[in-house]
Amino acid sequence: MMQKAIDISIEGHLASMKAAKPGMTEYEIEAVMEIHLQTPRRLEDVGYPSIVGSEYNACILHYVSNRKTTENKDLVLADCGAEYQNYTADITRTFPVSGRYTNEQRVIYNIVLEAQDSGIVACRAGNGFKEPHNRAMSVVQKRLMELEIIKKPEEARWYFNHGTSHYLGLDVHDAGTGGNLKVNSVITVEPGIYIPAGSPCAEKWWNTGVRIEDDILITDSDPVNLSGKLPRKAEEIEKLMQTTTTP
Ligand code: GLY
Ligand code: MN
Ligand code: MN
Repeated sequence: MMQKAIDISIEGHLASMKAAKPGMTEYEIEAVMEIHLQTPRRLEDVGYPSIVGSEYNACILHYVSNRKTTENKDLVLADCGAEYQNYTADITRTFPVSGRYTNEQRVIYNIVLEAQDSGIVACRAGNGFKEPHNRAMSVVQKRLMELEIIKKPEEARWYFNHGTSHYLGLDVHDAGTGGNLKVNSVITVEPGIYIPAGSPCAEKWWNTGVRIEDDILITDSDPVNLSGKLPRKAEEIEKLMQTTTTP
């Protein structure tokens, strides 16, 4: 059931990335997504209110008003998942509405991707629940220090201000077994970096909000990314966005 919810969600994310263009409102991008999550053939519901935030709004956790009109340079953070037979997906992608990341956006994007890769590797049975978070956070700390966005590792919390994982299942933030990770649990791995305007760093980084979120099955060997069919790399997303369709 969860894989089905995830597969439907992947179609929604693909459709909204292909349809997005500057001048669309956040809610229009949300609408393209939700049409694909809820066609009559497989109608159920969204697993949680869709988050579609551009520019400054991408830096607001659980932003759901989705009212802004996008502009050329905006990043769009889309955190949307379908529900199927009461199970939910939970997937985030962050894309440039123009189809091309600016240099600064690409730098931040690639740090979040590296953090996510490090977190996913740590999704192994027997590891502590916080191990993916600790790995992802240490990548963000190191890279933000290198860019002089922060001066001390602890300051990374200003820009990566949430945990990396939660259990996923009947609820988007599902009850879990707690303790060490167990075979057949599904958890999210969703690091983010959010630098709203006014942050104490160079202005060129302002209003960059990036999260990448996938749904990871813990097995008795390697972790399985159940949402891994949806492109994650910046270049793959840019390529996908050049395939435009009419919503
Ligand atoms: N969609 C809510 C979350 O990622 O936790
Ligand atoms: Mn999540
Ligand atoms: Mn999410």
